[in-house]
Amino acid sequence: MAHHDREHWGSRLGVILAVAGSAVGLGNFLRFPAKATLNGGGAFMIPYFVAFLLLGIPLMWVEWTLGRMGGIRGHGTAPGMFDALDGRHRAAKYLGTIGVLGPFVILIYYMYVESWTLAYAFFSFTGDLFKASGQDGMKAFLSGYQGIIDNEFFTSLTPALLFFALTFLANFYFIYRGVQGGIERLSRWAMPTLVVIAALLAIRVLTLGTPDANHPELSVSNALGFMWNPDLRSLGNAQVWLEAAGQIFFTLSVGIGVILTYASYLKRDDDVALSGLTAASTNEFCEVILGGSIVIPAAFLFFGAMGAREVAASGTFNLGFVTMPLIFAKIPLGALFSGLWFLLLFIAGITSSVSLIQPAISFLEDEVGMGRKKATIVLGVVSFAACLPGIFFLGHGFVDELDFWGVSVFLVVFATIEVILFAWVYGIDRAWEDLMQGARLRVPLVFKHVIKYVTPLYLFTLLGVWSYQQFWPMITMKAVAIPDRPYVWGARALVFGMWAIIALLVWWTWRRRRLEVSETKEGGTT
Ligand code: ALA
Repeated sequence: MAHHDREHWGSRLGVILAVAGSAVGLGNFLRFPAKATLNGGGAFMIPYFVAFLLLGIPLMWVEWTLGRMGGIRGHGTAPGMFDALDGRHRAAKYLGTIGVLGPFVILIYYMYVESWTLAYAFFSFTGDLFKASGQDGMKAFLSGYQGIIDNEFFTSLTPALLFFALTFLANFYFIYRGVQGGIERLSRWAMPTLVVIAALLAIRVLTLGTPDANHPELSVSNALGFMWNPDLRSLGNAQVWLEAAGQIFFTLSVGIGVILTYASYLKRDDDVALSGLTAASTNEFCEVILGGSIVIPAAFLFFGAMGAREVAASGTFNLGFVTMPLIFAKIPLGALFSGLWFLLLFIAGITSSVSLIQPAISFLEDEVGMGRKKATIVLGVVSFAACLPGIFFLGHGFVDELDFWGVSVFLVVFATIEVILFAWVYGIDRAWEDLMQGARLRVPLVFKHVIKYVTPLYLFTLLGVWSYQQFWPMITMKAVAIPDRPYVWGARALVFGMWAIIALLVWWTWRRRRLEVSETKEGGTT
């Protein structure tokens, strides 16, 4: 049990905006367009919506309910929550360590990518970004900035380190201010601002008409058709299902461990059913309607379906950091729109990265017993050090390896563990009652069966297919160049070293608590 008074959210709107802020991130505006474009636009959207209904929404409810339940008992992260849920198995708390590790692993590269968006907003407004021209020029600008090559644009990593330091400080400032005074306050202004900027950009893109008179087929209506015309052939492609499910997890921030922590700051009778659904729906509005109306149609209008696909295939970030500035360079007030685009990404990024930091803070506060100030300083120092290898070794596959463990492995495994514990170990009847406590929405009963049977089965199938297709080639580094392998081993050492530290802290904390309890008992009997 926590030895301190836990914080609470200030209002229902505040928590919904914070969870929506966690969900709406770089995934909505960079990852989603890249995945949808690569998987053939309309071919992606059916598996995507199926995954939203059968994985995304149920897991959202599971995490909101588990989180609120954990918070009432003084736990903000999965080790304490799983232990409290299932008092019989000592291993449950160790399974929960993935829910502290996962967000941390994603955080240490996410914050770096977020800092690029701040830099690109700056370089858009100063005009430096537009010194690069053509796909190759824009790619060279990005590689130069990332320190992968020295070129006419950049000769050192100093600008990247500077923008990273600013981003890092901004994130930890909001964390230091606390759940209500920092995260909630940030989300309250960031989310409306984000929606306004995204809507402005979407309107600008959708009113571009037919930019190339020689290619009348590159029109807005065909661009929208590219994304929205369903393609039933995709239903037979396992890879598209995997990609769609992965996107749903990442974009909703479910399976990571962050929603659990946010929900732990709710009060006993606060609603979770309607709030969870509202946050998930807000994310989908921002992803599909706003995110889907910016990058995909813009890339289609200027480069056609094939061209857009080629850029997306050359790197997840290339549509956002290469194609978009090139397009903005061709339209009136392009520098302004480019600046707004990267500002949008930065705002979306920071409301997500603070949510990736909070589980570790909550773990240090609730379980290890640190105060917020100390927890912020300790985590700040550790995560700053942990971010550095990703910055210096980006070109050697370091970040790709972190992304593999954080997103492809831990996220799906953790989602599977939590839904099994919730529906099968704790028991779906009790779990359903908890979900309904204080509910402002009657969740259709069919979801009780979905949570118990469909979601776990779906997850096991995904894990099975994915392990069969991808796990072994990744573990054995089949696609990694030999000189890069030591760096990839370094990334693994970082991930598993952090895991060992978290597991050790869990062991130490629970042992200390047991000793305290037995001392109190002894004291009582003598
Ligand atoms: N949900 C966050 C995003 O989409 C992590 O970027």
